[in-house]
Amino acid sequence: MKDTIISHIPAECPWRDTLYWFDTIDSTNTRAKLLANQGAPHGTVILAARQTAGRGRMGRSFFSPEGNGIYLSVILRPRCSAEALMHLTCGVAAAATQAVHKATGLLPQIKWINDLVVQGKKLGGILTELSVDPGSGLVQYAVVGLGINCRGSREHFPAPIRDIAISLETALGSPPDTPALVAALIHALWDMDKRLLREKTAIMNTYRKHCVTLGQQVKILRDNNPMGIAESIDPNGALLVRLPDGRLETVNSGEVSVRGLYGYV
Ligand code: BTN
Repeated sequence: MKDTIISHIPAECPWRDTLYWFDTIDSTNTRAKLLANQGAPHGTVILAARQTAGRGRMGRSFFSPEGNGIYLSVILRPRCSAEALMHLTCGVAAAATQAVHKATGLLPQIKWINDLVVQGKKLGGILTELSVDPGSGLVQYAVVGLGINCRGSREHFPAPIRDIAISLETALGSPPDTPALVAALIHALWDMDKRLLREKTAIMNTYRKHCVTLGQQVKILRDNNPMGIAESIDPNGALLVRLPDGRLETVNSGEVSVRGLYGYV
């Protein structure tokens, strides 16, 4: 599998030379953090056929059975503060939608802030984790983790997520070429990383273009769960929600999530 994937990644992308493959792992993000703490370089890619403890945002788990999905993490070492990386998850989401489109012809949408969505259901998600030097405030490393459901019908998902998750196989009507898609994702992430700090506006504009949450009525999951309309996304990726009293509430991904009022999206 590793060699097939590498053969699909263009030679211009140096990340193909620092790619780890595991048949089984607890979590590619957890392993990436371990490797980063041991000094693994920028652009180290960790892939697994199966995760036994795949993790999502806010302490959730990510269903990761063998052969059904892409479980991918990359170690980044940008030289900047954590504040300068607030848009990183958005950049990964924008890159992932473009890679899925290129490799399969299907263009996913993005549910703020980190979910890839097809036909109103979750196709995948992104988990970004940062290690910051407490003294300088500089980022020591960032791990970006991406999970995509590739194969399996509705019945393959556990009951609690059966009606909100979808695979590419279901959406396309046939299984995707997974190695080609993995290669497209790695290449798109590499390309996004090169532009991450210099082309923030363009990256965020791409994100906004694909974000299905904008214009929707959302419930903010904090305080007394106020509802409002998702009006825009600021340069750092925060969602700006217009409340019924006219105030504009800033919702940061780290503190709260939003829930659309019409099903999953
Ligand atoms: C979410 O849905 O909240 C994010 C899901 C992220 C899942 C990916 S799979 C590869 C990487 N390893 C993990 O443990 N999580 C991410």
